[in-house]
Amino acid sequence: MTSPLPRPFLPFEMERWQSTWEHRVEINLSESGVHPLSTRELLEIGRSTAGDEVEALSRSLLDLRHEYGQSNGSDRLRARIAALYPGADPAGVVVTQGGAEANLVSLWRLLEQAGDWAALLPTYMQVPGLVRNLGGTLHPVRLRESAGWQPDPDEVEATFRAGARVLLVTNPNNPTGAVIEAERMEAIVASAARHGSWIVADEVYSGAELDGDPTPTVFGQYPRVICTHSLSKAYGLPGLRLGWAISSPEMAADLWARTDYTSIAPATLSDALATLALEPSIRSGVLKRTRSILNANRALFGEWVDSLEGRARFHPPEAGAIALVNYRAQVPSMEIAERLRADFGVLVVAGSHFGLEGTLRLGFGNPAEELQEGLDRIGTLLRSYDSGTSTPPHGAPS
Ligand SMILES: Cc1ncc(COP(=O)(O)O)c(C=O)c1O
Repeated sequence: MTSPLPRPFLPFEMERWQSTWEHRVEINLSESGVHPLSTRELLEIGRSTAGDEVEALSRSLLDLRHEYGQSNGSDRLRARIAALYPGADPAGVVVTQGGAEANLVSLWRLLEQAGDWAALLPTYMQVPGLVRNLGGTLHPVRLRESAGWQPDPDEVEATFRAGARVLLVTNPNNPTGAVIEAERMEAIVASAARHGSWIVADEVYSGAELDGDPTPTVFGQYPRVICTHSLSKAYGLPGLRLGWAISSPEMAADLWARTDYTSIAPATLSDALATLALEPSIRSGVLKRTRSILNANRALFGEWVDSLEGRARFHPPEAGAIALVNYRAQVPSMEIAERLRADFGVLVVAGSHFGLEGTLRLGFGNPAEELQEGLDRIGTLLRSYDSGTSTPPHGAPS
């Protein structure tokens, strides 16, 4: 008997692009979260409202022993996370290395019972790429700009009828920044319930809504749900590599059994800082900072698009520091991204990484001056295509 040949490995194109270049360019507009906080800034946010807790942590920080921490997250941290979800039990929380590990262990656990996955696309391509790499089948449910990037629940139902038994929902969405309307989400949950399917809800952008109206979590709406989240986007703390999955205590126990294999435990220092960041008054201070960066920069971004006089347009995002820009030039998005990186020192994400040729994903969470400079450089390149006929049209070989 011969074993089946492994499928060719599908790289995670966007992450590869970012991890290769993000620290080697002058201006990084490839990020989807707000400008990260320093430890000092985090402590300062907490000082006015939770002074005692901040003082206690800052006194103990230098003596913090870098032992292995509680491997599914400290009890205090899991209690603070559970308090963010209606009716949640801290035993249902597993703290992970970012949302990425939360997604990985959820996928690993659910792939054991279902190889057929549906995903609302476009999305962050981690889970779709892993489903394919690990031998599963992906049923795409395409979101369209003409529908405001809203999913059609009938199309989701069709994938369940075709055999999908897990649905990936990224809400708010990356790269569109759209939030799914409540009635549509209810219809999707009802559809999953009819088929006994699981939902993996990647909610890492919740808390980063521009209008401050939190995106309702799917947790608590239906039992067969795993929600994943992290401090990377709304909280501006991606370097802590601190995320979580929340589900029933039974499912959380299964996920924890898998993090024993993947990372053992969250970093002790990250657990301590995350516990502080999720203290209710500090959390609201952090999210307020996020909203104020997003709204100020979103205005600047809108002015920039207007100044391009039709060379670019965008669907205004509702959450996250990302805008999906459709550009007019007949040039492949990867070619533009590469020119921007190599000749202009600006890193952006090519829409082709999401299967959306003719678009770029631009982060707008940077300090305002840096953002303005980056956008000006992008504008210079987009204007330069006005007369150019030397570049190939979308998708054409060069
Ligand atoms: C939708 C989504 N999920 C998960 C992640 C992973 O982020 P992290 O591991 O930093 O939480 C990202 C990062 O861009 C993302 O966009």
